[in-house]
Amino acid sequence: MSITLSVNGRPHTVDVSEDTPLLYVLRDELGLNGAKYGCGVGQCGACTVLRDGVPLRACVVPAAALSGRELTTLEGLRAPDGTLHPLQRAFLAEQAGQCAYCIPGMVMAAAALLREKPRPTEAEIRTALDANLCRCGSHNRIVRAIQRAAEELAR
Ligand code: FES
Repeated sequence: MSITLSVNGRPHTVDVSEDTPLLYVLRDELGLNGAKYGCGVGQCGACTVLRDGVPLRACVVPAAALSGRELTTLEGLRAPDGTLHPLQRAFLAEQAGQCAYCIPGMVMAAAALLREKPRPTEAEIRTALDANLCRCGSHNRIVRAIQRAAEELAR
């Protein structure tokens, strides 16, 4: 079937089967490789994107179910001139990634958190990212990065 997805503010018409996961469409059809394939079953968060500003596991949601929704990927956080989002800069500044495979999902979950709660406590950050797994154990740096971004965004 042919569907139109709105991704990072732009419409994209793609041919998909009824159950093609959004993650495959983003990576294979649209060339948006920010969202990663980790577990493929909705458990790790590596594939997190935003649907209408809310985190979504792109590996388990069919693209066909997302027509008419606004989707945001890691690539869509940048400003139109390419300037990185404060979260992206903060993750780099805090060296929050080791292997960095989980980082796109962490950044997207954090973006949703800061949208809802611009000055989250450390406990709120840890709760919001609880279901995003980092196998390298970088959680403390990730929390610091989100705190850093929250401070910059509040200025
Ligand atoms: Fe989607 Fe793990 S790859 S949650």
